[in-house]
Amino acid sequence: MTTIADKAVLVTGANRGIGRALVEEALTRGAKRVYAGTRQPLAHPDGRVTPLTLDVTNAAQIQAAADQVESLDVLVNNAGIALYDDLSDRAVLERHLAVNFFGTYGVTQAFLPLLTRSKGAIVNNVSLMALAPFPITPAYSISKAAAFNLTQSLRALLAGRGVRVHAALTGPTDTDMTRGFDVPKASPESVARAIFDGVENGEEDIFPDPMSQSMAEGWRGGVVKGFEHQYAAVVAQPVRS
Ligand SMILES: NC(=O)c1ccc[n+]([C@@H]2O[C@H](COP(=O)([O-])OP(=O)(O)OC[C@H]3O[C@@H](n4cnc5c(N)ncnc54)[C@H](OP(=O)(O)O)[C@@H]3O)[C@@H](O)[C@H]2O)c1
Repeated sequence: MTTIADKAVLVTGANRGIGRALVEEALTRGAKRVYAGTRQPLAHPDGRVTPLTLDVTNAAQIQAAADQVESLDVLVNNAGIALYDDLSDRAVLERHLAVNFFGTYGVTQAFLPLLTRSKGAIVNNVSLMALAPFPITPAYSISKAAAFNLTQSLRALLAGRGVRVHAALTGPTDTDMTRGFDVPKASPESVARAIFDGVENGEEDIFPDPMSQSMAEGWRGGVVKGFEHQYAAVVAQPVRS
């Protein structure tokens, strides 16, 4: 179990939306250091916040950020983009994959040595659209499905090193990303609280809002989750030569 109090936490996409709420929630829970990854310079009144210039598609910035962080307990891969599309333009798909999939992958790899040392936790803020595509944002859905599958592989691969890997299967949340999308939405603050509750309770998959929560029980006892655990057991066995 990972508690946030006295821990060092890094949040990407920390300047607005769910990322900003995650920074505030980590501070409220007594984090000793919160690294706020942003593309534009950020000022924060709390002395525990250390801004990091971090475009998750920029390998040099990722490495520079990793070089500035001495120790890390919790990495939250939150930065993301969502554009409407119809899969007719390959460039739109590549843009989503660059941020939502390869961004998550690149930041995770860069901070893995620190997370391994602390036996820390990774939280990937994916989406319910990782489980079923929303056909007006199919490129986004594909990138989130890929990021979720990455999360599941990392969970199995890193378990032996004591690093826990969580997915937040977030549903509609009231941020710039869903502006103009007329459905009931959770507040970013409540989603941030539920994400850290899920981490502190050791939930592999976190359902942090009312819409996603309605699927939690079915997902956790479902055939697909059982299949994930069955496959994961392959790397839990000692490797035979
Ligand atoms: N809102 C929802 O309903 C919902 C539902 C499920 C999942 N999510 C996921 O939750 C995460 C946060 O979304 P949000 O709703 O808070 O959206 P948002 O308000 O649009 O914020 C997106 C954040 O990601 C950052 N970002 C975008 N591209 C980046 C890049 N290349 N490098 C670094 N940061 C980048 C943005 O920074 P800039 O300000 O510099 O653009 C911003 O801080 C995303 O991964 C999203 O897919 C959201």
